[in-house]
Amino acid sequence: MRPLIAGNWKMHGTRAEALALAAALRAGCGDVAHCDLLVCPPATVLHAVAQALAGAPIALGGQDCHGEANGAHTGDIAAAMLRDAGASWVILGHSERRADHGETDETVREKVLAAVSAGLCPIVCVGESAAQRAEGRETEVVGWQISGSLPQDFSGVIAYEPIWAIGSGQHATPADVTTMHAFIREELHRQFGACGAGISILYGGSVKPANAAELLALPEVGGALVGGASLVADDFLAIARATPR
Ligand code: PGA
Repeated sequence: MRPLIAGNWKMHGTRAEALALAAALRAGCGDVAHCDLLVCPPATVLHAVAQALAGAPIALGGQDCHGEANGAHTGDIAAAMLRDAGASWVILGHSERRADHGETDETVREKVLAAVSAGLCPIVCVGESAAQRAEGRETEVVGWQISGSLPQDFSGVIAYEPIWAIGSGQHATPADVTTMHAFIREELHRQFGACGAGISILYGGSVKPANAAELLALPEVGGALVGGASLVADDFLAIARATPR
């Protein structure tokens, strides 16, 4: 599996800012052909960024979609709309969505089904809070999230993002990442049999150019989901360059 380096721009970027970032990524991505690059801009600029990146080896994704194909859901975005705007991926169940919008594993599972039926590849986020880790419940929590959020015959990518590591500058230790990714791999095997081996597991949470080489070389780390550092083209590309060849 080729490593995937995915940028989650979150709620950042006017059209001008997003286009400047896209132009810098396009100009600098020539030497990172050993990994797949993906950016997930805000939905308002998705189409403009898709046009700016047309023909470049950088895929586009959304940051969320609704679980239904269309309907009376003010403010929501359907998976097919993301696809229509140029996305081929979508991040689902990010802890900020789970916390800010009360998304449950069941909501996430519905969104995964909607995404896949619209032709999007889902990146499903899981991860424990600091309190859950302090209680020693991190694998239990992540195990429940995996069995609750992934439908039968899941095809997509998992992102392990411990909540306390997101935006904090404090990434998980290599030992913790190794343990959790091995656990997730086991769970995927348990749930999906042989197909579980083909599901890539990204790490996310304060991935920066300075720690990327160490984190991305760990067993069962198939790439990174990058927040803050994905807003700076040089940093995002430096993370991609640090991915083992
Ligand atoms: P961060 O965010 O890299 O800023 O910690 C990661 C994420 O939320 O996906």
